[in-house]
Amino acid sequence: MDSFTYLSLFIFVAVASSFTLPELHVIKKISFKYPYSCQPGPSSYEGCALFLTDYGVLRNMPDLLYNGACGSSNTFEVMLAGDNFGMLSDLGDVPLENVTASKAFNYNRITGDDNTFTSTIKVVSGHTYAALLAKSEIRALFVFRVESYERSGPATISYAVKQYGIITLSQESPGFSWDEPNH
Ligand SMILES: *[C@@H]1O[C@H](CO)[C@@H](O)[C@H](O)[C@H]1NC(C)=O
Repeated sequence: MDSFTYLSLFIFVAVASSFTLPELHVIKKISFKYPYSCQPGPSSYEGCALFLTDYGVLRNMPDLLYNGACGSSNTFEVMLAGDNFGMLSDLGDVPLENVTASKAFNYNRITGDDNTFTSTIKVVSGHTYAALLAKSEIRALFVFRVESYERSGPATISYAVKQYGIITLSQESPGFSWDEPNH
């Protein structure tokens, strides 16, 4: 096949496999049965992770993980594999309804008073969080609130998606590594 045929085939595949994307700004709820590292059976994302699309389910690539070893405190995580970057911010006890995309980064809308983002974050009942995903295939912003939480046990969150895209990298520098220094 020549490159044009490859391109046509690629476009066909891309169009043929279109996924249902989450509706923005709508509050939904999900319950986790247990933290990922404190589940009874073999390790699986079922019952402890949020998948915003069936694309994520297909790729076994959740958008948010509820984690923590049995008996320890629990965390939310978004950096789960490879070079999938992601960050979380704890906005405190603020109403989920109020968190716009803009407030997800700076809740008070005051210059210099930006929200603090970290790669994992402690689960606190009644707190509202913002999550930013910058993965090679997903770019997203969503906000969620811990409605109920039992240490090492079940948790329920309500969440709203502020931006979501399944993306295709057109070009990427080779050689990514988590440990490579600079010269
Ligand atoms: C949330 O939004 C409502 C309506 O705009 C406002 O009255 C309230 O003060 C806001 N709460 C917080 C904590 O920002």
